[in-house]
Amino acid sequence: MSVAVATRTTLAACQGVEVVYGAGPARVVALAGVDLSVPEGDHLALLGRSGSGKTTLLHALGGLIVPTAGKVLLRGEPLSSLDAAARGAARAGAIGYVFQGSNLLPNLSAWENVAFADSVARTEGEKRRRDLGPDALLQLVGLADRGEALPAELSGGEGQRVAIARALVQQPDLLLCDEPTGHLDSDTGERILDLVEALRDELGFALVVATHDADVAARAERTSELADGSIVEESSA
Ligand SMILES: Nc1ncnc2c1ncn2[C@@H]1O[C@H](COP(=O)(O)OP(=O)(O)O)[C@@H](O)[C@H]1O
Ligand SMILES: [Mg+2]
Repeated sequence: MSVAVATRTTLAACQGVEVVYGAGPARVVALAGVDLSVPEGDHLALLGRSGSGKTTLLHALGGLIVPTAGKVLLRGEPLSSLDAAARGAARAGAIGYVFQGSNLLPNLSAWENVAFADSVARTEGEKRRRDLGPDALLQLVGLADRGEALPAELSGGEGQRVAIARALVQQPDLLLCDEPTGHLDSDTGERILDLVEALRDELGFALVVATHDADVAARAERTSELADGSIVEESSA
């Protein structure tokens, strides 16, 4: 497996990424120079305790924040040197994001949450390899009959499924999942991971999962462990 990973094309990469929040006494070095390479189709876990920098690293990889220093490359293009609009365009079609806590819009139904993201993706005008609309996406995550429900009426697992469906509207090459099992009981969490992994097999995206849970990380092909903003250990299954 490690040989296959080494020969795959690099999809996303961090080179010497540093992220500093705040200034003066409030200054926090969240990432202290991270190098990371995500090949096409990869399954990588970012493992670390709370505060180790996992969310910050996913935000940097996803182009949601610009690092204080270093570079993030998407297919070899430096994302971090683009302005916000250009970064959004470069991201469109390439990266899906499942936020920590499912982060659904509370006044929209499950179907509307997916449809809204779908309409945004369409206006950004990227090409689709396969047309998956909101109905097909809800079906893919097993929620075809829950489209009318508001987020508050969904269980934690169902909300997470909607968030996954929403992240797939752009048919991403890279799916970033931040603590996808964090607030779920262990059975529900396992079913969510089974689902994401089955979707990866079917749709072929690379998957990066941030987690504090070593059992969740053990499901990935590779693990990079973060502590205090640095990668302290890397392992392959
Ligand atoms: N917006 C922010 N402003 C200031 N500090 C932050 C912010 N986001 C995260 N941090 C700090 O950066 C460090 C890394 O946080 P984070 O990336 O959220 O780690 P994790 O996801 O592993 O819990 C922590 O010390 C956290 O308190
Ligand atoms: Mg986090």
